[in-house]
Amino acid sequence: MKDIKVGIIGGTGGMGLWFADLLKKEGYTVHVSGRKTKLTSAELAQICNVVVISVPISATAEVIKQVGPLLNQDQLLMDLTSLKIEPLNLMLAHSAAEVIGCHPLFGPGVLESKGQNVVLCSGRGSNWYPWLKGIFDKNSFNVLERTAARHDEMMSIVQVLNHLNTISLGLALSETGHPQDEISQFSTPVFRAKLDIVKKLFTESPGLYAEIIAGNPATEKILDTYEHVIREIRAALRSNGSTGLKDMMEKAAKKIF
Ligand SMILES: NC(=O)c1ccc[n+]([C@@H]2O[C@H](COP(=O)([O-])OP(=O)(O)OC[C@H]3O[C@@H](n4cnc5c(N)ncnc54)[C@H](OP(=O)(O)O)[C@@H]3O)[C@@H](O)[C@H]2O)c1
Repeated sequence: MKDIKVGIIGGTGGMGLWFADLLKKEGYTVHVSGRKTKLTSAELAQICNVVVISVPISATAEVIKQVGPLLNQDQLLMDLTSLKIEPLNLMLAHSAAEVIGCHPLFGPGVLESKGQNVVLCSGRGSNWYPWLKGIFDKNSFNVLERTAARHDEMMSIVQVLNHLNTISLGLALSETGHPQDEISQFSTPVFRAKLDIVKKLFTESPGLYAEIIAGNPATEKILDTYEHVIREIRAALRSNGSTGLKDMMEKAAKKIF
């Protein structure tokens, strides 16, 4: 199995680079392509047994449509996209290859693989799936085998709701008009931790988070829930002050924890 060649489109940066390192550590030959590499994605597809798509979400559909038709049924086409329904359907529609959707639930900077979650969505074929799962199992990742629909539904909570909350905090902060250095002077440890998360989202890769939110089929529903909750908080405070809000929180705590 070690003479398998893996090609990662988008392997020059971010998650593609992370996956390239993991596979090289496992002894596989890895080729990478990006928009500036000498090796083109089409050439990579011709020399590799496994082709991985790890480009920004906005470029994923186009890359799958370009590369998918170049692969045959003995090859594996897989992706690392943070959304799963659309890329998986596109890979199935535009290629004869075996297909697997994969989403590592962490960023490229993760140092310890043990216990990190990886979602695998089986698409087509059964020859390559055990190979891929075996690599994650061997490295102590926690593999969740789910459908693309289930993945996207759960990501509407873990990513869409979560990131919307962070983005709302950042946007509301900027609307207050208070300068950052004044806010910092009065900050608490919890507030500093939250501000670090806002800074990461707003300055490191805002495009990725915007695409994760815009591309999830459940985002409208999550936005409705978010708006509803804010209205409920206002109503509870107006009618019952702190008791109203405390009651809401205690009721929710019983449901969640
Ligand atoms: N970052 C995360 O925390 C994270 C976590 C899990 C999953 N993901 C998923 O991983 C995928 C990649 O995200 P990332 O954060 O790793 O992105 P990234 O850091 O921006 O890296 C994207 C890579 O794709 C290449 N690229 C961009 N456009 C391309 C195109 N049209 N054709 C070929 N290559 C292209 C880039 O190289 P050039 O610019 O040189 O072309 C680069 O190598 C996304 O689907 C994302 O949802 C990300």
